[in-house]
Amino acid sequence: MFLKNYWYVAAMDHEIGRKPLGRIILGEPVVFFRTEDGTPIALEDRCPHRRLPLSMGKLIGDDVLQCHYHGLRFDRTGQCVRVPGQDMIPKTAKVKSYPVVERYKWLWIWMGDPALADQDKIVDYHWLDDPNWGARPDYLYAQCNWQLVNDNLLDLTHLAFVHETTIGNMALVEHAAVKVERTPVGVRVTRWIIDQPAPPAFVKIGGFTGNVDRWQIIDYTPPSFIRLDVGATPTGTGAPEGRRVGGISMRNLNAMTPETESTTHYFWAQAHDFDPRNPATTEKIFQQIKTAFLQDVDVFTAQQKNIELDPEAPTIDINADSGGIQARRIVDRLWKEEQAAKVAATAAE
Ligand code: FES
Ligand SMILES: [Fe+2]
Repeated sequence: MFLKNYWYVAAMDHEIGRKPLGRIILGEPVVFFRTEDGTPIALEDRCPHRRLPLSMGKLIGDDVLQCHYHGLRFDRTGQCVRVPGQDMIPKTAKVKSYPVVERYKWLWIWMGDPALADQDKIVDYHWLDDPNWGARPDYLYAQCNWQLVNDNLLDLTHLAFVHETTIGNMALVEHAAVKVERTPVGVRVTRWIIDQPAPPAFVKIGGFTGNVDRWQIIDYTPPSFIRLDVGATPTGTGAPEGRRVGGISMRNLNAMTPETESTTHYFWAQAHDFDPRNPATTEKIFQQIKTAFLQDVDVFTAQQKNIELDPEAPTIDINADSGGIQARRIVDRLWKEEQAAKVAATAAE
């Protein structure tokens, strides 16, 4: 199940250049490249002649992509402009082109109806290029359905078990005050852990010597955008009342783009507002969080394998699933709405 009429992150900006890059997005093969002036282009990555990925080909001049197999050429709109050995270009010799926008150091793509591709709908990730924040974006390939990543980020009790060596400890499960609420478009899960020991990574990053007040405010925007406001301050200094001083405050930024039903392009970054222009601080934080995220990827892969062995095997829900369950309900509703709109549009034609 894919929701199509949304902007998704397709790539980190530096991944796209003059060498064509092929990537499957929402089950469709897409080739990315830049024209000589740096404009990003996204076309269907499937030659209409014999279906070779055009990403195996090369750029000729500014914006013409030549297929590696028999040399058909396509311009930036996807129109075939040359067939070697013949003058006539078949009318159907073209590939689809996709709207793309570069924002927040990411390249965003619209896979649905291009008429609906409103750039204002791109979810806010300004922390990635805000000079008041340090951040290093990264890409992980997750061998799982994209909604497993949503579930994971909306239930942070898993930190106590999956990430006990980095960002987790038992205080997160046993001593958290949790609130789950609907926002105008999604879900927010707010967790406060008051007067508890800091986890190992927080001690390394924040230098805490005593107990802390820790917050995790998780904002979910469908289909698969999850932004976490996380941090800790020495206990009793007033963070729950809004005085975040003497500790660390970060944003954990996640954008999951389905590749197929069972694989996901996982774009993420950790942004920090303390010591924001010190690359060594950014790197130290990045390495701590990346260690944790690789632990998650192992979990996703193992879950997906079991799901594929028997998709109907029964599961149970516990209290901690509340945010994830609500997110899945929203996705189901939006998917039904999108399908109904498609049927109505077809009927009107
Ligand atoms: S497959 Fe592309 S030119 Fe033949
Ligand atoms: Fe995790």
